Amino acid sequence: MSRPVRIAIVGLGFGAEFIPIYQAHPEAEMYAICRRSQTELDQCGDKFGIKKRYSDYTELLRDPNVDAVHINSPIPDHAPQAIAALEAGKHVACTVPMGVSKDECRRIVELQRKTGKVYMMMETVVYSREYLFAKDLYDRGVLGRVQFLRGSHQQDMDGWPNYWPGLPPMWYATHCVSPCLALLSDPAAGKVALADSVVCHGSGRIREELIPKYNSPFAVETATFTIKDSDVVAEVTRSLFDTARQYRESFDVTASNVSFEWQQCEGEDPVLHMRGLPEPQIPRRVKVPDFAGRLPEPIRPFTGAIHDATHLSFLQGAGHGGSHPHLAHNFLMAVLGRQPAFPDAVTSANWTMVGLCAHESAMSRGARVAIPTY
Ligand SMILES: NC(=O)c1ccc[n+]([C@@H]2O[C@H](COP(=O)([O-])OP(=O)(O)OC[C@H]3O[C@@H](n4cnc5c(N)ncnc54)[C@H](O)[C@@H]3O)[C@@H](O)[C@H]2O)c1
Repeated sequence: MSRPVRIAIVGLGFGAEFIPIYQAHPEAEMYAICRRSQTELDQCGDKFGIKKRYSDYTELLRDPNVDAVHINSPIPDHAPQAIAALEAGKHVACTVPMGVSKDECRRIVELQRKTGKVYMMMETVVYSREYLFAKDLYDRGVLGRVQFLRGSHQQDMDGWPNYWPGLPPMWYATHCVSPCLALLSDPAAGKVALADSVVCHGSGRIREELIPKYNSPFAVETATFTIKDSDVVAEVTRSLFDTARQYRESFDVTASNVSFEWQQCEGEDPVLHMRGLPEPQIPRRVKVPDFAGRLPEPIRPFTGAIHDATHLSFLQGAGHGGSHPHLAHNFLMAVLGRQPAFPDAVTSANWTMVGLCAHESAMSRGARVAIPTY
């Protein structure tokens, strides 16, 4: 493609955070926005100076000027909208999760292969500075042999939009699953670690009125999963309702030389545990560096590393560990054919299905569930 990639963003709550990033990216044109409410659509369009506006997603897909859609709609819409976009010949970036059934994941993988278009699930954690720090240590051999991986994602979703109440915790598990699998992957070399089976237990019980929508009673779901061609096992824990816990996305790597532990409470620096030191000296808190240097200069401020007045107007894009500009950049580079999307469709399906299969296991009192490979 000899011109900038024309992007349309669908869903303008969380989705709006990506608008200024695409506007600043030298190889993107922030072309169109879409949401159902015309008033709020216009408010957003006026704020960011975007002329092309659609209140109907189907109409947007008919626009031949749209190269790629970036979907940020409610969870049940992710897969139907991604499928429709691929069928319309558009590249697709979609917020997490890929879908809410194994069938949806399979259909997206099949369509991506058939159309040759890019599909990328916009998983924030694997571009957060904490994850990138751990990954860098692992790739440089500092951690040694990985012995065990653990992720958790705890959030109180009371009061969130109507598709959340009662959602099975593991249906939204990619934030804790993805770092475990991504750490062991090397997408540039075509090596991607995929989970192949999962065992999950449900624990506790949410309020009765929350249960019927998804028929999911558990307050907490906790799972272990195996990884194809690896002796490493990972453990993930999720909660969404009726659990007292400050928001936590955490990721721990237990390894032979140095282990990494991310986040007990908001604002605490991660900890490195160094093997071979006297016991009190084993743990050490570390300041995680920023990885903005990996990005084109104009979008570097969006990692949030630069907190000066000049850049304050950009900082709404700096959430989730500075991941947003990395996600937008990786997607654009994949559309331009310069590097693989990470996660691509197969990987996104696997990360999503660990959670879907985990919930299936929890509903079968912990029976092992094989994770399909496509
Ligand atoms: N860290 C992360 O990866 C992260 C963080 C926040 C949100 N999310 C995901 O982003 C998505 C959106 O989150 P949110 O908090 O903005 O949700 P929201 O429900 O507040 O907003 C959804 C947006 O989608 C629009 N929309 C709904 N149906 C549509 C349709 N058919 N066509 C066009 N637009 C439509 C709505 O108008 C609204 O602008 C969710 O799926 C959520 O899981 C991911």
